[in-house]
Amino acid sequence: MAELVKDKALDFNVEKAGPEIDMSKIVRVGIIGCGWIAESHVRQYLKCPDVVIVAGSDIIPGKAAKFFADMGVEGAACYESTEEMLEKEDLDVVSICTYNAQHAPCAIQAMKAGVDVMLEKPFTVTLEEAVEVMKVEKETGRLLSIGFQPRMDENMKMIKKIVESGELGDIYYIQTGGGRRRGIPTPFGTSFIEKDKGAIGALGDIGCYSLDMVLNAIGYPKPLTVTGIKTDFFGKSRTYWEAEDKAGYEEIFGVDDFAAGYIRLEGGITLDFRIAWAMNLDTPGDTIIMGTKGSLRIPSTECWNGSVGGAMTIYHDVAGKGCQTEIPILKTKDSLFYLKIRSFLDAHKNGTPAPVPSSQILYNQAILDGIVKSSAAGKEIEIEIPEI
Ligand SMILES: NC(=O)c1ccc[n+]([C@@H]2O[C@H](COP(=O)([O-])OP(=O)(O)OC[C@H]3O[C@@H](n4cnc5c(N)ncnc54)[C@H](O)[C@@H]3O)[C@@H](O)[C@H]2O)c1
Repeated sequence: MAELVKDKALDFNVEKAGPEIDMSKIVRVGIIGCGWIAESHVRQYLKCPDVVIVAGSDIIPGKAAKFFADMGVEGAACYESTEEMLEKEDLDVVSICTYNAQHAPCAIQAMKAGVDVMLEKPFTVTLEEAVEVMKVEKETGRLLSIGFQPRMDENMKMIKKIVESGELGDIYYIQTGGGRRRGIPTPFGTSFIEKDKGAIGALGDIGCYSLDMVLNAIGYPKPLTVTGIKTDFFGKSRTYWEAEDKAGYEEIFGVDDFAAGYIRLEGGITLDFRIAWAMNLDTPGDTIIMGTKGSLRIPSTECWNGSVGGAMTIYHDVAGKGCQTEIPILKTKDSLFYLKIRSFLDAHKNGTPAPVPSSQILYNQAILDGIVKSSAAGKEIEIEIPEI
């Protein structure tokens, strides 16, 4: 399953950038964290004729230099200290590709150094961190976009268009989430499963995508309360890791492999959510958006990574008769990873809003954080989002 996760996430099938790119301004890029996903970022930047990759940092000695050599990037300066790189290099933008626990500190450092930021998902680890990052975003006026490439998918856009068309009427209930039978991600190490690096597990890795799929479609209403749980039965099981040839990882595992939440949103909408890196089940269910005029079913996928699993169906009445309308799968012109980077670069160059703004993902993070806090408290909690 790890291979499947790897292949899906690093889709390098990128078409050449179009001639419409403005070459009068060359963007100077830095990479923070030279691990797995940084590869995808660099490959997309290399497709952009208006970009030069100037530098990279990784706290592991020698990792940035090896990374650039392997990627065929010549002339990039390499640092072990992100702070030093930001101080010495004249950068326009950075991609932050560190593990989750380093998202907030690096984003804050970069924006304070006057650089625009493409920050990998999840936004941060806690709600408090997200608020701190957004305060710096506001103070510095820098551009901050969060790395939710599924947003670029034409099928995801279609979900939003369907909701906005009024075809479903008023939305009152949503079920979302997904999961894998076996798929705790450890493709190149253990940074997803260590408490001090990943910090949140399935919740932050793939849960954030499920939430974005539906919350973006309905305009990101504010979350009000959450009842949540999280568990680690598979990650802590020696049997699980023996089957993966990774016995001993159960000692390292310090995050959730399953989480669920029942969330009340502003506007009287209820959200029922569950996410699994591993479970004794094929899928915890399709995503459904229920409305007063119609409901939408979005098929789940085997390897949940934030995509639409097949043709969607609208259930509605036509002339008093219950009917189903099928919405066929749409093809997206470019790789989602390319569109994520290109849209960020265009926003940087044109001074336009972030393609995936923190102001939306703050509510996504508040739900993830609420599930963690409710699980610890053993009861429903109110979500309080401080003023920014
Ligand atoms: N968008 C996607 O599809 C996708 C896919 C995979 C991973 N991700 C996200 O990307 C992030 C990184 O995942 P990964 O699999 O590449 O992890 P990884 O462990 O392979 O790489 C992270 C790197 O960051 C380095 N690092 C940590 N703190 C640093 C700091 N302060 N300065 C410089 N370098 C630092 C680490 O040494 C490591 O080399 C995660 O948050 C993950 O959720 C996103």
